[in-house]
Amino acid sequence: MTPYKLLVIFSLCSCLVQVHSLAWPNLDPVKLIKSTACYHKTQKLMSAVIGDKHQIPKGKGSYPVGCTDLMSDFTIKGSLLRLYYPSQDGEYNSTVWIPNKEYFIGLSNFLGMHRVMAKFLTHYFGSVTTPANWNAPLRTGEKYPLIIFSHGLGAFRTIYSAIGIELASHGFIVAAVEHRDESASATFYFQNEFDVGINNKSWLRYKSLSTQNKDYATRNKQVLQRAKECSKALSLILDINQGKTVKNVLNSTFDLRQLKGTIDENKIAVMGHSFGGATTIQSLSQDQRFKCGIALDAWMVPLSDELYSRVPQPLFFINSERFQTAENVMKMRKFYLPDRERKMITIKGSVHQNFPDFTFVTGKIIGYIFTLKGQIDSNVAIDLSNKASLAFLQKHLGLQRNFNQWDHLIEGEDVNLIRDSNADRITHHTEHLE
Ligand SMILES: *[C@@H]1O[C@H](CO)[C@@H](O)[C@H](O)[C@H]1NC(C)=O
Ligand SMILES: *[C@@H]1O[C@H](CO)[C@@H](O)[C@H](O)[C@H]1NC(C)=O
Ligand SMILES: *[C@@H]1O[C@H](CO)[C@@H](O)[C@H](O)[C@H]1NC(C)=O
Repeated sequence: MTPYKLLVIFSLCSCLVQVHSLAWPNLDPVKLIKSTACYHKTQKLMSAVIGDKHQIPKGKGSYPVGCTDLMSDFTIKGSLLRLYYPSQDGEYNSTVWIPNKEYFIGLSNFLGMHRVMAKFLTHYFGSVTTPANWNAPLRTGEKYPLIIFSHGLGAFRTIYSAIGIELASHGFIVAAVEHRDESASATFYFQNEFDVGINNKSWLRYKSLSTQNKDYATRNKQVLQRAKECSKALSLILDINQGKTVKNVLNSTFDLRQLKGTIDENKIAVMGHSFGGATTIQSLSQDQRFKCGIALDAWMVPLSDELYSRVPQPLFFINSERFQTAENVMKMRKFYLPDRERKMITIKGSVHQNFPDFTFVTGKIIGYIFTLKGQIDSNVAIDLSNKASLAFLQKHLGLQRNFNQWDHLIEGEDVNLIRDSNADRITHHTEHLE
């Protein structure tokens, strides 16, 4: 499968390609739409894809949520991450969801689309915001637990905001890292100080692997790098927490010194989606600072068999119904050893794309056709995943909160949940990665 089936937009424009096939690559697609007979039809379809009604959900917890980006150091070996945190109240701008056009170019490249499609994506999604107060001051007076979040294949740091914002609204600091293993749609760094000064970014794009390279060895190498990047991001944040001066390479009005002494260093978890789910498990095995992990619809191929016995921390698998295969779930079950805390639930009627934000910004019909949405309402699905996550985190980070009201979800007790998995019992149509 293609994790970001924005092919939907490609199909919307196919009529235009037919009309103007020869001139197509040189045309401004937006102007072109306006000049063709397809205009009204496309507009109608576009408003079904993205409309004011479709928004990334606000956090339901009691804390206002702030958001900022942090890069340190500027090289490819440094960290780039988006932070969601409990913020002070006030009037702030909301956060731009996808902040550079290169991410859209990366997405179109990842999807094997013509480069011109990036313009479409930028035009329709470039102004979308997510409900977090950009650079708002941190809410102080409390120590927060910390979560490091790892994105999926073809994704990047900003598109799991529905999860980051929800957790931050319940009093977590969430750091969504952007991986430099060429599995992100795009990411950037700087070559040298001079480039930093003139904001001349170097972009690292998604690398599609040829068939013979799609194997375990390449993916395992990537997952090892990803886990290292999670640990590095954690070390960076803990340095800031301990009062070390860290310079944010990105110009930001958010003063990092606010974070000093605000993180509870004994309450740290790792979480991720798809390839990021595999990264979660890899990270647990090699960094004991992570006290527990949550793997959202994990893709298990990248992981070494040696890992099965090397994850002592509690681990929670939250799966979609459509993506999981018997083989993948079997690999998850190998982590079930005596005296190890393991939980697994499956969200009924959900698809792999129920975890990233695209499920919220696309219309119902098209989202469903292109499996950005499942049969279950996207808000219901993410609520179940978030509440079950909060309950699990309370239990295994030892939090004194009321998230235990959702303990039954960890056991799969809800009309929309399946305890464990049905992937190895029922044959149904499954989605595929690539
Ligand atoms: C909001 O954004 C505008 C335009 O980019 C900027 O001028 C203004 O300073 C921002 N406001 C805050 C509170 O950050
Ligand atoms: C930071 O701001 C300075 C001064 O406005 C500007 O010259 C520089 O390009 C900016 N750097 C980045 C990385 O945005
Ligand atoms: C920006 O960086 C690229 C890649 O390192 C380099 O080729 C280019 O000359 C730089 N641009 C400027 C204006 O320095």
